[in-house]
Amino acid sequence: MGCESEKETPHKPQPAVPRDAAAADALAASVVVDAALPRKVFVTGAGRCGECHDKMYDEWEVSAHAHAVSSPLYKAALVSAKDPTCDRCHSPLADAAPRDGVASEGVTCDVCHTLREPTPGVDGGGFRLAIDDMVKFGPRCDLKDHYFHRMGCSPEHKEAPICGSCHWWEPKGLPVFTEFADWRAGPAAKTPCQDCHMPKERAALATGSPVRTGVPHHGLLGLASDLRTRALGLEVAVRDDHGAVEAAVTIANTNAGHAVPAGLPEHRIIVRARVRDAAGAELALETRSLGRLLVDASGQEVPFWRATKVGADTRIQAGTAWHETFVFHPPAAGTVEVEVLYRGVSDAIAKQLGVSEIEEHAMTSARVRFGVPTATGRAQLPKTLTVKPPAPGKRPAR
Ligand code: HEC
Ligand code: HEC
Ligand code: HEC
Ligand code: HEC
Ligand code: HEC
Repeated sequence: MGCESEKETPHKPQPAVPRDAAAADALAASVVVDAALPRKVFVTGAGRCGECHDKMYDEWEVSAHAHAVSSPLYKAALVSAKDPTCDRCHSPLADAAPRDGVASEGVTCDVCHTLREPTPGVDGGGFRLAIDDMVKFGPRCDLKDHYFHRMGCSPEHKEAPICGSCHWWEPKGLPVFTEFADWRAGPAAKTPCQDCHMPKERAALATGSPVRTGVPHHGLLGLASDLRTRALGLEVAVRDDHGAVEAAVTIANTNAGHAVPAGLPEHRIIVRARVRDAAGAELALETRSLGRLLVDASGQEVPFWRATKVGADTRIQAGTAWHETFVFHPPAAGTVEVEVLYRGVSDAIAKQLGVSEIEEHAMTSARVRFGVPTATGRAQLPKTLTVKPPAPGKRPAR
């Protein structure tokens, strides 16, 4: 198949793997046979897939899926939880392949491209991995088999359940991962996860194959990894209330198909509202932290595997908005600044797990200037600033 398609894109380099009868031996070498299993298991490390699918490999390699076993936060969590059932979603190949090999790649190519019969469920759902044959399932049904693997036709790869079979889990009634359930009940239920998380480009599926349209990005956070900056709209209405500066902040979940923050219950949206004087010095700061607080029987915030109930849920549901009015008493002219940030884990849980490096990303922000107080109020007020989320970003030059 590779040979035929090369004619259409002669400028493409040759694949770095053999393409003749010897290829069959190369394939045999990549087949893992686990003595504990009664059958041959056909799984391959992502690096091997990447020899032909370099685009997908480069995008996946820096994604969270590639670090589902190795992220410092997960490693700390596993030490604390001591629960073998975590493997089901974080290392689905753990029972089939060496733990220090392909299984350590977490949610790797051969998890999603052998994944069949995804059945999302409140209890974590399930799926089957078709690893007893060298067939790779993908969304196209008109590709010719290749010597390295045969092509499996799976329109399901364009549908949400393939994601939902890991992205929904409410063990013992405790909502841990809810993005699939949120999405299904929300205003974007007709838009599959892939439409937002795997935007399409024109590209060759494999080295030497023709350029095709509709090739999905595997970073899962947009073409320029900027999905988080496109989730929320922000409105800051500032007015003078008898000399005090009143800032009414509205944060709208306009573009995520589910509650924000999504994912791990310990994720946080941090809202910082501050006033600076004209020279930029900070005069006042107010901070709010939005997300879910899972608590134990005594009401203390604990990681989800120790929690028994939801103490509070201040996530912004899809299509809804969060409001709060902050009142400041600045003596002179200055600016009101509102920053909205994503934080990878709450401070309390980071401390309990001993994790010190916490991921933080800007999501959106706004600045409103005001002047010195006058007899009728502050100069330049009232003022409303609306920050719309930017349109989908372009892929950065590679
Ligand atoms: C020796 C080269 C080579 C290797 C290695 C390789 N592939 Fe492929 N793969 C191809 C070619 C060629 C195509 C078809 C491309 C085309 O026709 O545009 C393809 C297509 C696919 C498709 C699309 C299937 C569909 O029906 O939509 C998937 C999914 C896929 N490969 C996954 C994998 C995975 C996972 C691995 C590693 C286990 C892998 N491939 C390793 C060459 C390779
Ligand atoms: C086999 C289970 C599994 C499947 C299938 C799966 N995911 Fe994930 N996903 C995970 C795990 C586990 C993580 C967390 C990895 C980590 O950070 O440790 C994750 C993380 C993510 C993230 C977070 C990205 C980031 O950078 O923080 C997004 C977005 C995501 N998945 C979307 C999807 C979408 C969309 C699909 C369907 C196309 C999907 N996932 C399919 C298990 C899965
Ligand atoms: C989290 C699950 C997941 C992982 C991990 C993953 N893929 Fe995919 N892949 C998908 C889905 C879903 C699609 C189809 C999305 C769509 O078309 O909307 C896809 C599509 C593809 C296609 C076909 C593209 C096309 O346009 O037909 C290839 C080839 C592919 N992936 C290769 C890889 C390789 C190589 C890796 C590892 C480096 C990998 N994938 C890792 C879920 C995954
Ligand atoms: C309408 C577009 C859209 C749809 C549909 C959508 N998402 Fe998202 N998703 C987003 C945006 C925007 C963000 C960034 C905001 C955030 O991080 O909470 C996001 C974030 C995420 C995260 C990252 C959480 C984190 O912060 O690490 C996960 C996981 C996720 N989505 C999974 C899914 C799954 C699974 C589906 C389908 C059941 C889905 N999403 C459907 C837009 C969408
Ligand atoms: C039903 C599937 C499923 C099971 C079972 C599961 N997880 Fe996850 N886990 C996910 C998904 C999906 C994500 C990604 C959501 C997101 O973006 O945070 C995730 C993310 C995480 C993260 C955040 C990782 C990071 O690097 O940000 C931690 C920590 C975590 N899980 C711990 C665990 C532990 C500990 C267990 C076992 C007690 C477990 N998980 C069991 C699906 C699962």
